[in-house]
Amino acid sequence: MARILLTLTLSFFLGLPLAAPLAAQEVAQTTETDRSATGGAQTLEDIMARQRGEEVPDRARDGDDPDSAGAVAGQLGTLGGSSDSDVWSALRYGTADVTVSSGGPEARVLIQDRGMWWLQFREGPLITYGSWLLIGTLFALALFYLVRGKIMIDGEKTGRTVTRFKFIERFAHWLMAGSFILLGITGLLVLVGRKVIIPTFGHEAFSTIAIASKWVHNNVAWAFMLGLILAFVFWVVHNIPNRTDLKWIKVGGGIFTEGVHPPAKKFNAGQKLIFWSVIILGASISASGLSLLFPFELPMFAKTFAILNQTGLPELFGFGLLQEQLAPHEEMQYAQLWHAIVSFVLMAIIIAHIYIGSVGMEGAFDAMGSGEVEEQWAREHHGLWLDEVQSKEGAPSSGKAKPAE
Ligand code: HEM
Repeated sequence: MARILLTLTLSFFLGLPLAAPLAAQEVAQTTETDRSATGGAQTLEDIMARQRGEEVPDRARDGDDPDSAGAVAGQLGTLGGSSDSDVWSALRYGTADVTVSSGGPEARVLIQDRGMWWLQFREGPLITYGSWLLIGTLFALALFYLVRGKIMIDGEKTGRTVTRFKFIERFAHWLMAGSFILLGITGLLVLVGRKVIIPTFGHEAFSTIAIASKWVHNNVAWAFMLGLILAFVFWVVHNIPNRTDLKWIKVGGGIFTEGVHPPAKKFNAGQKLIFWSVIILGASISASGLSLLFPFELPMFAKTFAILNQTGLPELFGFGLLQEQLAPHEEMQYAQLWHAIVSFVLMAIIIAHIYIGSVGMEGAFDAMGSGEVEEQWAREHHGLWLDEVQSKEGAPSSGKAKPAE
């Protein structure tokens, strides 16, 4: 025990990575190696075999009591039947009786080798595939622009405008949009900083950028969540799918063909897709973000995995049973990965949304800019909604449609 406490203290000072316990039973024993000389602990053969890439049980004397292990001779004498590797493997597999003076269960975890998988995935495939997703989206939009060009208002403009979004709706939109863009940029800076900024601009520059990005990211997240809630409250009634959406989808919304204008209410099927993506993915990013913002306080993956296992879906898709026992650090690692992956997906969707709401379609930006849209734009893209507005307010000539400036 004294030895473990000493090791723990040394580990803290030496800055060893924190870690999670793994089920010791999972580690298989092999019978081929004669370990009597080490009292059942690792042998030199084990170490050499592992270096050759061969399968070797991680903990040779799994479950054994070191005190009752066979006597060892010579240089291992000071530890009796134990060896250093016993101490380390007990720490690694969470079987060591660790006591700490402060902190929760996470403070008792000193080695978590699964953390290396997370680290490598975060620095490798996550950045690579995430970047390709964003670059691919930009490329596809550029191609679309070259082929289709800007979607213009086909009919003759009336010179009258209709109110599309009230101030409070535009406020919610820009609160959500502005904060999302800031979160996207600062999140990417934090994610790729070590790989991109340090080699290009050096450690000093990265330090300043990383501190600023972290501060912005952690604080602006609240604005995004507020914007998300407001947008949900204001627009959810207009985003419930209906039969008109099928007609819209059938002709691809007329996006790919000039002169085709399927009927739509306040939001067409494409916009509903954007709305629900923003709400669902945005909520999921917020939940995992909160879990990261309050470390170890809001673990959610073990519970989610247990629920998923009950549905049988992971097994159906060949993932086997998901881990239902996660170490505190593993919870954080999953939260980080999920947060980043879902953010990449939402960023790609939002890039497409920004395109269509600005350079991609004549007259669209006004809806969120001034809140007033050209009546002909409204007729072509949201005909049913325009009819509703005009029947509430009277005919276009007699109604409140205002002359455009
Ligand atoms: C510079 C960035 C952005 C521009 C120019 C922009 C533009 C627009 C415009 C013009 C509309 C109204 C479309 C209409 O009248 O039918 C709109 C709606 C909307 N925007 Fe944005 N937007 C931006 C960023 C964002 C961001 C970052 C989010 C979410 C994170 C977002 C979420 C939405 C949602 C949910 C709607 C309602 C559904 C829809 O029309 O697609 N927008 N945006």
